[in-house]
Amino acid sequence: MGSEGFFPSSNIERRLEGKVALITGAAQGIGKAIAIMYCEHGAKVVIADIQDDKGYSVCKKIGLDISSFIHCDVSIEDDIKNAVDHTVEKFGKLDIMFNNAAIEGSPCPRIEDSEISHFQKVLATNVTGVFLGIKHAARVMIPQKQGCILMSGSVSSIIGGFGLHAYTASKSAIIGLMRNTAAELGQFGIRVNCISSFLIASSLATDFFTKKGVNGVEDWACQLSTLKGAVLTGEDFARAAVFFGSDDSKFVTGHNFMIDGGVTTTNVAFDLFNYN
Ligand SMILES: NC(=O)c1ccc[n+]([C@@H]2O[C@H](COP(=O)([O-])OP(=O)(O)OC[C@H]3O[C@@H](n4cnc5c(N)ncnc54)[C@H](O)[C@@H]3O)[C@@H](O)[C@H]2O)c1
Repeated sequence: MGSEGFFPSSNIERRLEGKVALITGAAQGIGKAIAIMYCEHGAKVVIADIQDDKGYSVCKKIGLDISSFIHCDVSIEDDIKNAVDHTVEKFGKLDIMFNNAAIEGSPCPRIEDSEISHFQKVLATNVTGVFLGIKHAARVMIPQKQGCILMSGSVSSIIGGFGLHAYTASKSAIIGLMRNTAAELGQFGIRVNCISSFLIASSLATDFFTKKGVNGVEDWACQLSTLKGAVLTGEDFARAAVFFGSDDSKFVTGHNFMIDGGVTTTNVAFDLFNYN
């Protein structure tokens, strides 16, 4: 332990004080929860999304002095470039780039019925969007000689059967991108990590499982998890995002962090520990 004592930080409540974050897809759902929690921890945030009204209303809720909205389609390079430049112009720098925006698409699980247009659209948002986010964040972070790049992954990044083919392919692809860019950007003090989760009852999940609704999705996630007695929410994701965005994770890079109640680590079909 260093000389700073047992409680090294007097700022334990606000772990992102002074940091500036750009979060894509933060007009609703998990991204919105991250934006709100980042500001509670002292960060300033830019929300980049295609839903202008919802994005502005999140900023109004947070406070327009510490947040800003910019229209951005993550699959368009100029939009991402503008969002990064807007963040630096507005708040002076970019510490955290959170590539969170993604789509699942219409439910069509059969490979022989899957449309190429759908596959390409999902990859354009979920993979190209992350690639562009990393590229333009690196452009401003390399001269700063520090930075944190994050992305929203999924249990689908490491296990089959939890999403459509396009979505699963996209979430697997960004793990390769994350590891490769972590390998390159580490020399500039830039960390690159992914936060992956199991089902959270956001619009993405409830639009996909239309018959289940919010409670149905939550119940189902609880049922499939080996960990019982807890319901996974966007705030749980945001808490991990605070850790990965803060200096508490200063030596962590190239990591795919799972928030999954044991879903990806346990073969429940084997039923070895069922005491009922
Ligand atoms: N909800 C879940 O169960 C779950 C589980 C694991 C991972 N995730 C991941 O978390 C992230 C957020 O998902 P969510 O559940 O909050 O979904 P959501 O649909 O509620 O929110 C996604 C946001 O992204 C925005 N968006 C969509 N396409 C965009 C584009 N081209 N450019 C910019 N913004 C765009 C939407 O407008 C929306 O605000 C996604 O990467 C998703 O894959 C979600």
